[in-house]
Amino acid sequence: MSTRVVAVSGSQRAGSYTRRALEHVLRTAETLEVDADVHTELLDLRTVDLPLYDPDRPAADRGDADDALRLVRRADAVVLGSPVYHSSYSSTFKNFHDYCGFDEYDATVVGLVAVAGGGSYGSTLEHMRSTVRGVHGVVVPRQVGIRNAREKFDTEGVVDAGIRDRLDELTAQVVDYAGRFGG
Ligand SMILES: Cc1cc2nc3c(=O)[nH]c(=O)nc-3n(C[C@H](O)[C@H](O)[C@H](O)COP(=O)(O)O)c2cc1C
Repeated sequence: MSTRVVAVSGSQRAGSYTRRALEHVLRTAETLEVDADVHTELLDLRTVDLPLYDPDRPAADRGDADDALRLVRRADAVVLGSPVYHSSYSSTFKNFHDYCGFDEYDATVVGLVAVAGGGSYGSTLEHMRSTVRGVHGVVVPRQVGIRNAREKFDTEGVVDAGIRDRLDELTAQVVDYAGRFGG
């Protein structure tokens, strides 16, 4: 059996903490001791040509949207990461999400990560959970919120052991649930 895990980073920032958290998730996924072969891919929206979603936009003008959607559609599990912007998710996260629908997410297992510069991330995770429900993604109970992000990362990745543990637990649950859904 094989399990394909895609992480989607919703930050435009070059040194994004959200991306670093998701890179940690994917590294963990690759080393999990599970029956399935785990394949991972990072969809860093900073590097994707994704015009502002417009239902009237001609197919030829959608930039890289269709390639990005294909990645999500083929995934067994998707880990979504967003910076906390004004107590919610980023426009980058939502713009990509607006391209997505049931075809991408129906029966897909989803994990959530929110990264805050300040002290609170709860509403961001709630908003992400409810908008993923809107496309019938199956969001797992575990989720990871990271506060005071500057203190939790260095240039290599996550330096906070507690955050690393929580990301690892989320990753294990996402891969486990993806297996239970049939891989
Ligand atoms: C437009 C904007 C709004 C923000 N709003 C919040 C906020 O409401 N709460 C908070 O804790 N941090 C807020 N921040 C800080 C970001 O959450 C923080 O910089 C985070 O690390 C960004 O993630 P990234 O490194 O992946 O880009 C905001 C930053 C920007 C640019």
